[in-house]
Amino acid sequence: MRKKILVTGGAGYIGSHTVFELYKVGYLPIIIDNLCNTTDQNLFGLNKILRTNIPFYKIDCSDLGQMQKFFKTHNDIYACIHFAGYKSVSESVENPKKYYDNNIGSTEVLLKCLEKSNFKNLIFSSSCTVYGMPDILPVNEKAPFKKAESPYGETKQKCEILINSSSCNSISLRYFNPIGSHNSGLIGDCSSDNASNLVPIVAEVACGIRDRLIVNGDDYDTKDGTCIRDYIHVQDLAVAHVKALNYLLENKVKEVFNVGTGNGLSVLDIINTFEKVNNLKVNYNFGPRRLGDIQEIYSDGDKIMNVLKWKVNKTINEALISAWNWQKSRK
Ligand code: WQD
Repeated sequence: MRKKILVTGGAGYIGSHTVFELYKVGYLPIIIDNLCNTTDQNLFGLNKILRTNIPFYKIDCSDLGQMQKFFKTHNDIYACIHFAGYKSVSESVENPKKYYDNNIGSTEVLLKCLEKSNFKNLIFSSSCTVYGMPDILPVNEKAPFKKAESPYGETKQKCEILINSSSCNSISLRYFNPIGSHNSGLIGDCSSDNASNLVPIVAEVACGIRDRLIVNGDDYDTKDGTCIRDYIHVQDLAVAHVKALNYLLENKVKEVFNVGTGNGLSVLDIINTFEKVNNLKVNYNFGPRRLGDIQEIYSDGDKIMNVLKWKVNKTINEALISAWNWQKSRK
């Protein structure tokens, strides 16, 4: 009998890839999502790849009444993986209240429901942005929360603190930069808002949806003047959630883990690699720095490798090929 796992935001980018991995190893993922920042394309894609109908409920996670009603009729859920939330660093700078209300509000509501449920097991979609601009690189989980560089990062810090002070067993996964898509080309990042992340924008420029990419700053103190990030294939990130879930169901813990490759790449590295592996040219100019950006961050991945026995499987080339594949197949 498949153990039921609630996946909030499961129709989204990382959520849908995690639903795929959960089902593949024998869990029964139950998706709740209000589709406010994604379309139903991933729901159809998942059902096609998995040849099944993954249960889906159109629910706003920040609506206490809707969530209480859901939990009343679903008392056999073993754990919850909480993805539902907004994720654009730049948008959070323009509209902080939208991020506080939704990202923190949905977590508060979920905790209220979980603390009254039979299974108090929670995996949280956190972010390396909780570190702000770390003093030491690569950054590990012992690094303190510094002042978050964006309201997005603030919401992730606040949610981790709320989860830590709850009665739930929990694992917070601090993602670095998720990129790429499932090799079927049937699920991916279908955020309905304008893409603000580097790789989706590079792909849109490559296919002509956008005229050119503006590189946000070329005067950072890095090897080529552009920002450095730790880009991780979304399929590797999804597998990390399954490893974390297995561990959490075996151990009553409150833990945090970085999920990154440990390899820092610059914006120009990404552009040049995307062009090379996909055999195309990307038009770009240099522009001013973007508010909320930090210069450089990449992960110390020892803890997740040692404790969860997770490791990076996919290469940056595979990630950028799959990102182009998804862009070409997007509706
Ligand atoms: C990367 C670099 C930009 C667009 C992301 C997610 C966030 C979190 C952390 C998980 C920066 C530059 C971008 C463009 C550019 N992940 N860039 N031109 O800001 O690191 O945050 O990872 O929680 O959810 O948003 O990612 O892809 O926006 O930017 O030069 O048009 O690319 O300035 O240096 P970021 P990003």
